[in-house]
Amino acid sequence: MDELCANLNSWRGDINPCSVALAPHLTTMLKIPPVFALATLTSLVALAPQPSVAAPAAIVRAPFGTMPDGKVATLYTLRNTRGGQVQITNYGATVTALRVPDKNGVRGDVVLGFDTLQGYLNGDAYFGAIVGRYGNRIAKGRFTLDGKNYTLATNNAPNHLHGGVRGFDKRLWNAKPLMLKEGPALELTLFSPNGQEGYPGNLNVRVRYVWRNDNALKIDYRAVTDAPTVINLTQHSYFNLKGAGLGTILDHQLRLNADRYTPIDPTSIPFGELAPVAATPFDFRQFHAIGALINEDNTQLKNGQGYDHNFVLNRQGGGLRLAATVREATSGREMRVYTTEPGVQFYSGNFLNGVKGKYGRVYPRRSGFCLETQHFPDSPNRPNFPSATLRPGQTYRQTTVYEFSTR
Ligand code: GAL
Repeated sequence: MDELCANLNSWRGDINPCSVALAPHLTTMLKIPPVFALATLTSLVALAPQPSVAAPAAIVRAPFGTMPDGKVATLYTLRNTRGGQVQITNYGATVTALRVPDKNGVRGDVVLGFDTLQGYLNGDAYFGAIVGRYGNRIAKGRFTLDGKNYTLATNNAPNHLHGGVRGFDKRLWNAKPLMLKEGPALELTLFSPNGQEGYPGNLNVRVRYVWRNDNALKIDYRAVTDAPTVINLTQHSYFNLKGAGLGTILDHQLRLNADRYTPIDPTSIPFGELAPVAATPFDFRQFHAIGALINEDNTQLKNGQGYDHNFVLNRQGGGLRLAATVREATSGREMRVYTTEPGVQFYSGNFLNGVKGKYGRVYPRRSGFCLETQHFPDSPNRPNFPSATLRPGQTYRQTTVYEFSTR
C-alpha cells in the first residue's frame, strides 16, 4: 500500500490522492483536464497490486516538481494494454518507475528511483536517466579528435564520467507523448550546444521510449552534429526484479552473451585489451547468481569494487542482439536485454549506500544492477575500440530493448 500511496502522492503534491483516488468528480479534485480523467482514474487503479487484465493503453501527464530555475518537470505515465506501467520524467529523460507482473500476475516496481523531482536533483547515482554526451568514463577527461585536444571535467577524479558535471541526466528535455501501434511512447529531444561540458559540435538528440504492449521497453536513440564529436548514450536504470528496495540483487541469476570483457585499472579505465571471461568471475555465459563470485580474491573485482565492467557482446553484423538475461526466482520475473551496441556495462550497484528511495524504502549496497548498453569506456582514446566519433552528415543510432516476462 505504501508503494501505491507514494505513487499516487506524486501525481498531485497538494492533495492526498490515496483518499480521493476512487472518489467521484476526479477531474475537479485533481484539477486535470477532463480528457485525462478517465485515463487517470484507470491508471490510479492500475497502480494497485492486482492481476494483469487487458485494458486500453493510456498516457497521462502530471507535474513532477519545479527546477531551481523555475521550470516545471513533467511526469508521464505510460500504460500498455496489459496494464504494465512505465513512468518517465523529462528531467534527465529518466525512467522513474516500471511496473510489471510477477509470476502470480501481481505488478511491482522493478527500478530504483525517487518519489519526487527533489530526490533526482539531490541524487548522484544516475537512477533511470539517459546519460550523455559520453556515457561511462574518458581517461583524465581528455581526448584528441582530428588533431584537436579537448578537455572535459574530471567529475569522477581523475576521470570524466557520464557527460560531466551537468550531463544529459541533469537537463530538462522536451517531451512529446505518442500513441503507437506497438504501445504508448514518449519522444524526448535535447539540444546540446557546441562547447557544453567541453564537447565539440552542436548536437541534437532524440530518445524515443516505446512501452510496448508485450511489456518491453524499447529505447531508440538518434543524434546529429554540425562538427565532429564523440557520443555514447545509454540508459542508467537500476533493476531489482524482486522489486525496488526489496533486498539485494546478489541472488539474481545473470547470463551475458559475452566471451570477452575490458579489464580496468584501479580508476576504472580499460587497459585496451579484450580479455577472455573464461575461467574468471566474469564468465556469465551460463546463468549464475550475481553474488556467487563477487567477493572472490580477484584484482578486477577489486578494481571495480564488484562488477563494474564493460562486456564485449558476441555479435556478427548489426541489428538487435540478445545481450543479457536476468532471472529472479521468488518473483519469477525475467528480463532480457537486446541491443545494437557493441558493449554492455554490467554494474552491480557497488556504490549504493543506503539512500532513501521510493515508498520510503532504502537502497543498500548492491540492491540494484545496471545493464548499460554502450560503446566501450574511453573509446575516444582507444583506436582499437569501435569508434564513438560522430561527424556532420552522419546519424548516431542506437536501439536497446528491456523485455519483461515471467516463468
Ligand atoms: C555506473 C558506473 C559506476 C558508477 C555508477 C554511478 O555507470 O559504471 O562506476 O559511477 O555509474 O554511481
